[in-house]
Amino acid sequence: MNHSNRVANIPKSAIHEMTRLSKEIEDVAFLSWAKPTSGAPDHIGEAAISAIINGLVDGYSVSSGLVELRQEIVKKLKRDNNIEANISQVVVTVGAIEGLAAAIMATVDPGDEVILPSPTYSTHINQVVLASGVPVFVPTIEEDGFRLDIKGIQKTITPKTKAILYCSPSNPTGTVFSEQELRQLAEIALEHNLMVITDEAYEYFTFENHKHFSIGSIPEMQKNVVSCFTFTKSYAMTGWRIGYLIADEEIIPQINKAHIPFAICVPVVSQYAALAALKNSQQCIEEFRQKYLSARNLMCQRLDRLDSVFEYQKPEGSYLMFPKIFLEEGKDSQQFCEKLLREAKVSTTPGVDFGPTGEGHLRLSFCVPEEMINTAFDRMEVYFKQLKG
Ligand SMILES: Cc1ncc(COP(=O)(O)O)c(C=O)c1O
Repeated sequence: MNHSNRVANIPKSAIHEMTRLSKEIEDVAFLSWAKPTSGAPDHIGEAAISAIINGLVDGYSVSSGLVELRQEIVKKLKRDNNIEANISQVVVTVGAIEGLAAAIMATVDPGDEVILPSPTYSTHINQVVLASGVPVFVPTIEEDGFRLDIKGIQKTITPKTKAILYCSPSNPTGTVFSEQELRQLAEIALEHNLMVITDEAYEYFTFENHKHFSIGSIPEMQKNVVSCFTFTKSYAMTGWRIGYLIADEEIIPQINKAHIPFAICVPVVSQYAALAALKNSQQCIEEFRQKYLSARNLMCQRLDRLDSVFEYQKPEGSYLMFPKIFLEEGKDSQQFCEKLLREAKVSTTPGVDFGPTGEGHLRLSFCVPEEMINTAFDRMEVYFKQLKG
């Protein structure tokens, strides 16, 4: 075959496989996707329509994004992330994903090691492999709510280590790394001059006393961080494919050189939609957060009733959780999930997709209507009762 080894090394996505299998079955209770089920607020679509009618969207924009959009992003970064930036440090990207890909491409040479606190978002692993980098997994401390193992990270650093890549709030575990943990991580990065690449997609979705902290707000880290954000989750704009990154002026030209061959620029219509999202009321974010908090509480209550099957860490943020499966059958999470789908009509995501320490777990998404959570758990209660005889 004529394919590249680089791409052949990327495993098939279990999330997409579960989606494909789910389509073969009727009336599935679907907890597999980390995708907001609500729509974006109306004013966002209206701004896009008016940009189309006014003939603003037919050409390319500057590759790093419309100036007025980057100006609003700079204000948001200051207000919500405590990050000081000017517009030349911002690149508007095709979702957080393309920002992360461009940041990794601009940072990692073939054979360079990238530390991933794991379990971690499967796409990050694949992006490192696509850049011919070597993902190095450092397990988080599950019993302690999947906290960062700072000593473990320190011990894993070699002369080949180039970067640390994490997401907080986390997909798949829902953990929010604390300011204290991230300040310790920053010290390590500075000591070894490593790049830290962050995925802050769920920045607004944190619960109770857990607060999102951007490592890019530490002034000493300015040259060592690329912070990636998105409109996907905050404004339920998944399909608009728009996010942005912020980095030091020195590395931005390199990131732009990686961004252009993949995207040239973000669809201009989406840039006008994002501009409207930033300029208008931010109320929808709090409404989404409240909805996810209520759904999280429901999912935890339902999991408590299945305590002979699952053990879980309560998510501190995001809209995902990552229970461990007690049953013998759970050791192979792919098979477990496929069986659960076929026999109980509940679609989840196998933990093995999220790095080696993800095996034996499954990922559940609670950004779904509460009826869906109840249906899924009603079915699982019956299924596991039968399974145990
Ligand atoms: C941690 C994380 N990062 C990024 C993304 C995708 O973001 P975007 O749509 O902005 O590319 C997801 C989507 O599920 C995610 O969970």
